[in-house]
Amino acid sequence: MKQLSRCHNIGDLRRRARKMLPAPMFHYIDGGSDDEWTLRRNTAAFDDYELQPGYLVDIGTIDLKTDVLGIELDLPFFLSPTGMSRLFHHEKEYAAARAAAHYGTLYTLSAIATTSIEDIAAVPGLRGMFQIYILRDRELTREFVQRCRASGYHALCLTVDTPLAGNRERDLVTGMTMPPRFGLKSFWSFATHPYWAMNLALHPDFRLANVAHRVDALDGRVMGLVEYVNSQFDRTVTWRDAEWLAQQWDGPFVIKGLQTVADAKRAADIGAAGIMVSNHGGRQLDAVSATIDCIPAIADAVGDRLDVICDGGIRRGTHIIKALAMGAKACSIGRPYLYGLAAGGQAGVERALYLLKAELERSLALLGCRRIDELNRSHVSTRIR
Ligand code: GLV
Repeated sequence: MKQLSRCHNIGDLRRRARKMLPAPMFHYIDGGSDDEWTLRRNTAAFDDYELQPGYLVDIGTIDLKTDVLGIELDLPFFLSPTGMSRLFHHEKEYAAARAAAHYGTLYTLSAIATTSIEDIAAVPGLRGMFQIYILRDRELTREFVQRCRASGYHALCLTVDTPLAGNRERDLVTGMTMPPRFGLKSFWSFATHPYWAMNLALHPDFRLANVAHRVDALDGRVMGLVEYVNSQFDRTVTWRDAEWLAQQWDGPFVIKGLQTVADAKRAADIGAAGIMVSNHGGRQLDAVSATIDCIPAIADAVGDRLDVICDGGIRRGTHIIKALAMGAKACSIGRPYLYGLAAGGQAGVERALYLLKAELERSLALLGCRRIDELNRSHVSTRIR
């Protein structure tokens, strides 16, 4: 696609996504909570670190392979869970899962995906992780675990930073709330994005594919899907529940959404194979630190016991290099591939992965490294302001 080949970085894909999507969908991806301070800071904080290159070393071959969560990935970054992909492109979660498989990396399927656990598991070459919440409906939580085991997911990822929803004010303005409350302006935006609207009409397959059957089962008790999902956030979940879930799962168990050394140590104590240091892309508690700023202390505390993954704010290959040099085992990305998805389905996700991979290879070589495991703190200095 010509437009995709004109996207030379993730920022270009974001601009393309903005053109393609009606405003409520674009801002749902792009926005964060409250003042969006953490959203901005996640990316801006990378500028506080500078790379320290070394020259006159043999960089004849560059290898991006990385061992993470017990498997070897072709890239040192993978795809974070993101909900409701159908809203952004009719190829929905398949697009992201197939692109991840094509690039030899891990895809994380969201609990609120619009494609089923089993359908994504059938993507050839997939290495899958499933993102789970401990829901009030513990029976559904158990069912997710069972289905992931039966269909061959490699890892399970528990998101813990969402005991209740963050305050996403862009969504209040556009009406992208649960349930939706679109105003005139949003309807105008749908009308002026005929490609998106036509696609929705041609593929009217929006369903929370892994949840819908529970709502059907409750039918007499009359509850819409949206009310059901809203009602499932459980504010009473504790470390004991996390430990219980870890015990239900016999593969690598990951906790996503931790930001402190104390919590990282608890995750290691309950046997987590990895933690995703994350603030949910600045969509939950605003005013928390950028994830990159949390990495060194957490890596020092638990890096020998589990894989520390940096999730949040990554828009450039150099961001990934900084995170890895500062102690992360791998990184994960959300918005960069969603912009690609909105811009062009699977081809757009592949464009996002291609760009980040090319930036990584080039920057690693210019830094004087051949392999990811050569990166260390000597490659980064803190900028003096
Ligand atoms: C869901 O987890 C979201 O951040 O929208």
